[in-house]
Amino acid sequence: MNAQRNTENSTLEGRTVDHSKVVMSQVFMPQHTGPGGFFVHGGEIIKLMDTAAGLTALRHSHSQVVTLRIEGINFHYPIRVGNYVTVEAKLTFASRSSMEIQVQVTTEDVLKEKSWEALIAYFIFVAVDKDGKTKKVPPLIISSEEERKLFEDGETRHSTCRIDEQSRTLCAMD
Ligand SMILES: CC(C)(COP(=O)(O)OP(=O)(O)OC[C@H]1O[C@@H](n2cnc3c(N)ncnc32)[C@H](O)[C@@H]1OP(=O)(O)O)[C@@H](O)C(=O)NCCC(=O)NCCS
Repeated sequence: MNAQRNTENSTLEGRTVDHSKVVMSQVFMPQHTGPGGFFVHGGEIIKLMDTAAGLTALRHSHSQVVTLRIEGINFHYPIRVGNYVTVEAKLTFASRSSMEIQVQVTTEDVLKEKSWEALIAYFIFVAVDKDGKTKKVPPLIISSEEERKLFEDGETRHSTCRIDEQSRTLCAMD
């Protein structure tokens, strides 16, 4: 397929989704729990997700990046101390300066040999220069139907997210 979709950035060389994919794993220890001591603090998981998504954005843009928005964080299953947690981050959409990264979290109970998808969320990163001003990112090269579908969904979110007068972000797909 190899279509470069964000043509506004066509002066920059396009990069594939595979180019910037990141996989990170961690075993969470007692110091990563909340006050109860059994379950991993949600912020620890979000930090790992943010790190993986940021590295993906960095790989794609070859630029300093900042987290602008996180959407879809829903912890449906608890993550326990000792669980082996894997975070997979991949770029789903890139526009002028912003990049949407899908982050999937899988948890494994190693003793029980059982693993499950803990959550999927979307991180929006923006490429910035040393003064914090936004800058262009390379186009995303789409290589499969699945990537095209994810790109189109990201494009819809990008075109519908607005900040209202109370500075709350509203997205048509929320
Ligand atoms: C990210 C930041 C540089 C954006 O600055 P800005 O003046 O709002 O820039 P723009 O309005 O040009 O928006 C930049 C991009 O983000 C997109 N965007 C803005 N608000 C958005 C939202 N709520 N959801 C999704 N995308 C959004 C814009 O559409 C634009 O995308 P494009 O260039 O790809 O078309 C600025 O808000 C910032 O520095 N935020 C702090 C980031 C930070 O420090 N994060 C660490 C955690 S504290």
